[in-house]
Amino acid sequence: MSKTDRCTIVTGAASGIGRAIALRLVGEGGRVLAMDTDAAGLADLETAQAEAGRLVTFTGDVAKEADVASCIAAALRHFGRIDAVVCNAGIMKRVPATELSYEDWHRVLDVNLSQSFLFAKHAGPELRKAKGAMLLVSSTRAFMSEADTESYSATKGGLFALAHSLAVSLSPEVRVNAVAPGWINVSGEELRPVDHAQHLVGRVGEPDDVAHAASFLLDGEKAGFITGQTLVIDGGMTRKMIYAH
Ligand SMILES: NC(=O)c1ccc[n+]([C@@H]2O[C@H](COP(=O)([O-])OP(=O)(O)OC[C@H]3O[C@@H](n4cnc5c(N)ncnc54)[C@H](O)[C@@H]3O)[C@@H](O)[C@H]2O)c1
Repeated sequence: MSKTDRCTIVTGAASGIGRAIALRLVGEGGRVLAMDTDAAGLADLETAQAEAGRLVTFTGDVAKEADVASCIAAALRHFGRIDAVVCNAGIMKRVPATELSYEDWHRVLDVNLSQSFLFAKHAGPELRKAKGAMLLVSSTRAFMSEADTESYSATKGGLFALAHSLAVSLSPEVRVNAVAPGWINVSGEELRPVDHAQHLVGRVGEPDDVAHAASFLLDGEKAGFITGQTLVIDGGMTRKMIYAH
């Protein structure tokens, strides 16, 4: 399947990394179903891409099984096939464990982690048919932490494990990989020299840094021998030892 005909579902596509991935895949000639809870953001995405008919949107919650099933049905209705799913939607709650409600703990798990289970469950048969791929968006927070981020880190570590677990279960037809981005400036926030300096490459990441890697990992011709892996995309931040002086 060439990039031109490939149909990909991208979740969390209304902003940030998901938006960059969706625009890159469409720009390369592919077709994308963009899913998000943010209907206004999806409408904006639709106007940002030039290729009519190549991007359709679906407003829904990745943590709701019925929405995931409807999203997959919508992709099949529009495109007739599903070659790839990018499970990118994510949320973070920075709350001390002593204060985080059990409900909020579960919400983060449901959105960040369970979505990938739901998409594997409902899109698995179509992905097998298409000899397709899944890409899970983890984080370098799977491997290191700041305080009060337990729920987020647990989900991102879970995605590292889910990527190899699903890669085994869906083989040989479907490849499943994850990306673990580091600091990606999705809001265009003004950064200090010290922010850039803590990266080996001398700069904070941009959404397109992840989108390029996603495009490569989804491409069965270029990345056909890569599955079950998590690719760290962090400008070397997690390879740099920092001693306070
Ligand atoms: N920005 C970073 O530095 C960074 C680093 C590592 C990993 N990540 C991961 O990258 C992914 C994208 O994050 P981002 O930085 O682009 O953030 P973002 O907030 O800009 O985008 C996240 C998108 O997900 C959507 N979303 C949230 N909950 C949803 C739900 N239940 N159903 C459907 N859509 C939902 C939001 O509306 C939003 O459009 C997340 O999984 C995040 O954890 C980001």
